[in-house]
Amino acid sequence: MYLSREEEAILDGELGYPYALAMKVVVAVGESLKAERLIPVVHAHVSGVSYFNIGDAGLEFIESLVGNNAVFRVFTTANPYAAILSSSYGSLPDDVVGKQLKIINYLRSMGARAFTCAPYYVRRPSYGEHLAWAESNAVLYANSLIGAWSNREGGPLALLEGLLGKTYAAGVHIREGREPKCFVSVKNHESSFLYSSMLGLKVGELCPDSIPFVEGLEGMSEEHARAFLASFGSTSNAPMVVFNKLTPHSQEFLKHLDIVERFSVDLSDLRSALSDLRDARENGEVLYFIGCPHLSLEEITNMLRYLLGEGRKSPGKGELWLGVSDTVSLDDETLKHLSERGVRIVRGMCPVTTKLSLMGIKYVVTDSGKALHYMPKLAGVKVVIKDRGEILKEFLHGGEEVR
Ligand code: F3S
Repeated sequence: MYLSREEEAILDGELGYPYALAMKVVVAVGESLKAERLIPVVHAHVSGVSYFNIGDAGLEFIESLVGNNAVFRVFTTANPYAAILSSSYGSLPDDVVGKQLKIINYLRSMGARAFTCAPYYVRRPSYGEHLAWAESNAVLYANSLIGAWSNREGGPLALLEGLLGKTYAAGVHIREGREPKCFVSVKNHESSFLYSSMLGLKVGELCPDSIPFVEGLEGMSEEHARAFLASFGSTSNAPMVVFNKLTPHSQEFLKHLDIVERFSVDLSDLRSALSDLRDARENGEVLYFIGCPHLSLEEITNMLRYLLGEGRKSPGKGELWLGVSDTVSLDDETLKHLSERGVRIVRGMCPVTTKLSLMGIKYVVTDSGKALHYMPKLAGVKVVIKDRGEILKEFLHGGEEVR
């Protein structure tokens, strides 16, 4: 790989150990992918922030960087951390909370601006911008809906790229790397958060390693496209989806389509699979969770207006957690009213990567296909999936199913 004089100097240690390490790793990854040069990025997004994901080894790695004065050289955000809040279910063990706080403080000291899985709401990328992002839903959003360019990086790699402000010119950073190889035609789509989420899981299963061109979802809202992409990223490794007439310049992709596989998905077939997942109720402590990925300001505002307006009809079972970026703040009065109704604004946290079973939670009701995919393994709970409106109603009616 060609390196500029400045890049060579960093590799030789001119800026110190963290930057030399970063250069060595990024160059090695780039060379393995046949990249010929490095390119600047304007925003890095680090994943692997939950202590449950990275453990002591990850904590020690970040500690060693901070101990050697590592600082991000471009705008950098980080994924949410484990849910270290105290709730009516109880809290996580003190040592876990302590280690999680260390990780958060180290990343802040390096310059992380926010903890969220929706970095596009903290700093919206522009069309054609190069990014080094590591959260799959965010990468898919940036490539597919904005037309920005980011590979789907691993968490440590994105962190090292944030130190350098550079990535390798390969994958979807080059035009050929963005071409769809899989074609999916969707029939009878019903636009809702839930169905878009379920569809994302299905299309990901059909195209596990290649970028799909998806037709039949024209006119889908950005909110529903976001739900689709978050789920798609759980079952596919592809960093991008080309939605017909939704992805910027989607028609350009049609001109040089070189499709290897073609599929058709009828939403009617997904509906029967959904009924099993909706009715898998469990005994024990229930948590209602909306916000995987983190909610936009508009979504949270609408939801809070509804929740505070309706009031909770009975003391009910369980709490409702709403996931947002730690940059979202609400006044104390609103938080008090919400807390009296059993609603918690979970700022900067990810319940999906938190061992909720340690808090005594047995099952979770959510609208997220991504949470459905990961929570049983990572959080140690059963998951029931429902539409957002149904979840809010059920919660407000004290855990009684409302259809
Ligand atoms: Fe965000 Fe955690 Fe879901 S990082 S996308 S809330 S799995």
